[in-house]
Amino acid sequence: MDELKTTDEGSGPENGAGAGEALGEGVSPRDGEALKPSSPHSAPNDAETPAKEDSSEAVILAAGLTKRYGRETVVDNLDLRIERGDIFGFLGPNGAGKTTTLLMFLGLTLPSAGSVRVLGEDPVKEPLKVKSQVGYLAENMGFYGDLTAYENLSYVCELNKMRDYGEKVEEVLGLVGLSEVAGKLVSEFSRGMRQRLGLAEVLVKDPKVVFLDEPTLGLDPDGINTMLELITRLPGERGLTVILSSHLLYLVSKVATRVGILKKGKLLAQGSIAELAGKTGLEADLEAIYTYYFRGEAA
Ligand SMILES: Nc1ncnc2c1ncn2[C@@H]1O[C@H](COP(=O)(O)OP(=O)(O)OP(=O)(O)O)[C@@H](O)[C@H]1O
Ligand SMILES: [Mg+2]
Repeated sequence: MDELKTTDEGSGPENGAGAGEALGEGVSPRDGEALKPSSPHSAPNDAETPAKEDSSEAVILAAGLTKRYGRETVVDNLDLRIERGDIFGFLGPNGAGKTTTLLMFLGLTLPSAGSVRVLGEDPVKEPLKVKSQVGYLAENMGFYGDLTAYENLSYVCELNKMRDYGEKVEEVLGLVGLSEVAGKLVSEFSRGMRQRLGLAEVLVKDPKVVFLDEPTLGLDPDGINTMLELITRLPGERGLTVILSSHLLYLVSKVATRVGILKKGKLLAQGSIAELAGKTGLEADLEAIYTYYFRGEAA
């Protein structure tokens, strides 16, 4: 697959990231702080899966990953391992650091300390190598409203220097259930249709890993179910690893093979729901597990 290039095309999509731009932004100058050594672990927690440097199956490997904005630490010494084929759900309330963590994985914001490897590559040093292999559904997808769904996806393919992409575009539109409206202007799309088009855009580049930030935001129950069903099929049908963020427990518990619970930038726990149930002595119920970790940390 061709590398994702920077896309300083002048006029951008109508809002937010999207239409191929999300991964082309590079690192913002505000984030250009020098990397500092990782601080030692402070609070004990259950997020103890060690970051091993040697495994070929780890799609994401983070060690001591930290992000500070001024004096505020918004991602705090995060050690994390995500395996190939996982659907990994980042859970946490508003402001917990989910999006910031994803942005560090993508090389779109620099860590203040620690390290991360995505498919063995360092997004700080080799952002294009990472970006060429991953897809990112941003919190607010933007598309060109005066282009059709088909044209928006074709434009993304052009930006990515893909050739003979017609079939690919049709395939992903079919996958997300938008074939019948492929020729409709995106300005006439509903929120749910846009979100599905966002997923199609992520998939059209044939990524190995997809990052979905709040993929069901603003969707009605039918839209949520459709999106969840699509996400569940990605590892089996397309060999993908999925990392998604959400503050909706019931949603994550429906699709995630493993979860990470974030609170104020700290990863309180990571593992499958069964593993976390084993550790806590609770039923395999994500809501109970989540409450347990939150209550424990607040004490
Ligand atoms: N560019 C920035 N400059 C300063 N602070 C920031 C910046 N981006 C995020 N933050 C802060 O970092 C913290 C974590 O934000 P983040 O967006 O990662 O949370 P989140 O878990 O994705 O929340 P939400 O569920 O609302 O999307 C918040 O306190 C936020 O105010
Ligand atoms: Mg967020």
